[in-house]
Amino acid sequence: MQPITRSRILGLTQKELRLKRSLNSQALIKRDEKYGSRHFKPLPVVLAKGEGVHLWDVEGKRYLDFLAGFSTVNQGHCHPRLVKVTREQAGKLAHTSRAFYSEPHGALAEYLTKLFGWEKFLPMNTGVEAGDTAIKVARRWGYRVKKIPSEKATVVFAKNNFWGRSIAALSASTDPNCYTDFGPYVPRFDKVPYNDLNALEQKFKQDPTVCAFMVEPIQGEAGVVVPSDGYLEGVRNLCTKYNVLWIADEVQTGLCRTGKRLAVDHENQRPDILILGKALSGGMYPVSGILADEQIMSCLETGSHGSTFGGSPLGNRIALEAVQILEDENLAENACKLGEIVRKRLENISKDIASEFRGRGLLCGLVINKDFAEGWDICLKLKEAGLLTRPAHGQILRISPPLTITKEQLEEGLHILTTVLDNYK
Ligand SMILES: Cc1ncc(COP(=O)(O)O)c(C=O)c1O
Repeated sequence: MQPITRSRILGLTQKELRLKRSLNSQALIKRDEKYGSRHFKPLPVVLAKGEGVHLWDVEGKRYLDFLAGFSTVNQGHCHPRLVKVTREQAGKLAHTSRAFYSEPHGALAEYLTKLFGWEKFLPMNTGVEAGDTAIKVARRWGYRVKKIPSEKATVVFAKNNFWGRSIAALSASTDPNCYTDFGPYVPRFDKVPYNDLNALEQKFKQDPTVCAFMVEPIQGEAGVVVPSDGYLEGVRNLCTKYNVLWIADEVQTGLCRTGKRLAVDHENQRPDILILGKALSGGMYPVSGILADEQIMSCLETGSHGSTFGGSPLGNRIALEAVQILEDENLAENACKLGEIVRKRLENISKDIASEFRGRGLLCGLVINKDFAEGWDICLKLKEAGLLTRPAHGQILRISPPLTITKEQLEEGLHILTTVLDNYK
């Protein structure tokens, strides 16, 4: 006698049952919420496939992706070159940790240092770890080079920064959602207003224990806040004048997103420590890292830092290909050109709908008027219309598609967006 199974009860073959289960968004969301813990609040769509600028849900509906995994998938989803090298390297040697040498680590370090113009590269995994690494290097430098008294090194951050969720990152945060009830916090982290050179100079002048100023060249998670022209140059000058290391967090702005290789390139400035992440792997594997010159990086001697996965052959091989794709496909140029189209289209949108457009290249934000609608509700409507994105801080719609997007695809996405806004009420 055949056992009584769910498939028999439903009158389906095992295969049909598997298909039915796997195709049902509602069931998948329910399971996620039952067994998964809270993290982000996801938009109610269950994605099953990605290719280029498109995503498909489990029911087979196609969407244009205007989020790109928070500026991670700059190369487009499942870029064939990335899929190929991932398969090849995974089938050859995935992991050793840096307990041993492997060819991809040196290849990536050589490529990145030559491309970006710093002497050393140190790979980690996530953006927040790279930020933490930068701070460790800067504190070491503060004690050993600047001669700050022991345990007194201060790191200054810009208010409204975001660099992740670790205890160090939330200690630097000014957003109560990030830090409330997670204390005690890391000491000697100070904050100054963003885009305010006077406040920064005051801080540096008053406090000789400052070893570093860590700042995003454009504040991404704060809602795409672009500083005034000259801010980055001013930061460089003040850091040099007061012997403070400038750490530029380009986890979100870097790697062609803003229309140049790096956002600091818009003002031709060179930070002392550069943090990269997100698009460094095109989303295939978590890869982050910092770039700095030997004099600074050498403050970490053997044994003082490390990571099991950071610098793995698999991650390094993927990162090398990911950055070469950005270069080979001129994606900075595409971001610059298409960013202008976004700006022209959205800058003059009715003030009743959106109070402000912000952006550079394809890192853009449209500030939806709260009296008009909740950002989240707009995103739900966009999803229905075939476009995926999320708001930052409730009201700022992110427009940050993969940089491989074509003009036609971008126009299509903007058409969906403006149609949804026009017909919202
Ligand atoms: C500027 C910036 N730095 C750091 C991070 C943290 O990166 P991760 O989430 O990979 O730790 C983020 C994430 O959004 C970011 O936007």
